[in-house]
Amino acid sequence: MGSEFCKRILVTGGAGFIGTHTVLQLLKDGFHVTVVDNLDNSVEEAVDRVRILAGEDLSRNLVFSIGDLRNKSDLEKLFSETRFEAVIHFAGLKAVGESVAKPMRYFDNNLVGTLNLYEIMGKYGCKKMVFSSSATVYGQPEKIPCVEDFDLKAMNPYGRTKLFLEEIARDIQKADPEWKIILLRYFNPVGAHESGQIGEDPKGIPNNLMPYIERVAVGRLPELNVYGHDYPTKDGSAVRDYIHVMDLADGHLAALRKLFTADEIGCVAYNLGTGRGTSVLEMVAAFEKAAGKKIPVKLCDRRHGDATAVYASTEKAQKELNWKAKYGIEEMCRDQWNWASKNPYGYQSKP
Ligand code: NAD
Ligand code: UD1
Repeated sequence: MGSEFCKRILVTGGAGFIGTHTVLQLLKDGFHVTVVDNLDNSVEEAVDRVRILAGEDLSRNLVFSIGDLRNKSDLEKLFSETRFEAVIHFAGLKAVGESVAKPMRYFDNNLVGTLNLYEIMGKYGCKKMVFSSSATVYGQPEKIPCVEDFDLKAMNPYGRTKLFLEEIARDIQKADPEWKIILLRYFNPVGAHESGQIGEDPKGIPNNLMPYIERVAVGRLPELNVYGHDYPTKDGSAVRDYIHVMDLADGHLAALRKLFTADEIGCVAYNLGTGRGTSVLEMVAAFEKAAGKKIPVKLCDRRHGDATAVYASTEKAQKELNWKAKYGIEEMCRDQWNWASKNPYGYQSKP
């Protein structure tokens, strides 16, 4: 689709985990892409690897700019020099525990950064936005699967930034109907590009399940703490909807397609998940199979604030975005192990 029109897309946070995979798919689909990232939670090497995967020709269509959304001047510079047809906005901080300890850091980065972005987009007449929201806006859902019109609730400052930013988007669009805004609520993104050249590379000890399992598998951590073994689930461990990052990347292309082709969009939310629930212990077993090695586990108390079971209703995205996840947990674990075994220290070459 991109090649027909040569559309240039601004991708904020495009050096990060989901951003790199999405930028690669955008380039392959013929889009021209500008990434803006302050490298707070990423490295430029990740963008270099996207260039290699895209190949010489397509990588010419990628511009990388170091910039911080909290600095309006960084955004002014980008928009005054280039005409963007739409923005995919990944840039943000995402560590739940850190957000509880440092709420101001989260409000400043996620809220101020996004407000600046809307202001400058509006000023330059770029009014098409795909925003990274999260299943966190469902809080601890009373019913599953989670449907987009459920009541929303924040459980922590990180979740509050996503909830506020969804509401802010609705207000902005209501005030100026020229805006078209798609809010994508990701469930649990895991896996990596099939090449094993790009993947998730969290700084410090990972909070999320799959990066933690990965570190145990490569020998950097001794065992996995399984938080909760007395949940009312099939095996006592908590259930989530894990989604392959490449499926997620394709969900962004589907959202862009909708922004460019549909008239009446307004501000609309879609779940990006598989619709299938997998328990922590099932995920461990699938990873053990993919890696061909045992992951030592320790059964621990529940983690504060965790829900028993969360998974998505996928009907709306399927019907209105014509998008459906293709991969199952076997492929997620296969590709994540491929990345981990080739890059045991992430993008760093040495410990
Ligand atoms: P990530 O940390 O790998 O990527 C985010 C990128 O944004 C990083 O490269 C970081 O350096 C950049 N960034 C942060 N603040 C910035 C700023 N002020 N200016 C410029 N760049 C900035 O995270 P990710 O996993 O790729 O997540 C992308 C988005 O998706 C985030 O908004 C996150 O909240 C959301 N999300 C992620 C998950 C998940 O599990 N990974 C789940 C739901 C929602
Ligand atoms: C968490 C966040 C959510 C955020 C998402 C980003 C909380 C309460 N929720 O979701 O807001 O959007 O990350 O990806 O932090 N687990 C273990 N051992 C571990 C790590 C995790 O057993 O070392 C378990 C957890 O208890 C949970 C499951 O694995 O049951 C998935 O955890 P995680 O990957 O952190 O994702 P969420 O909790 O779904």
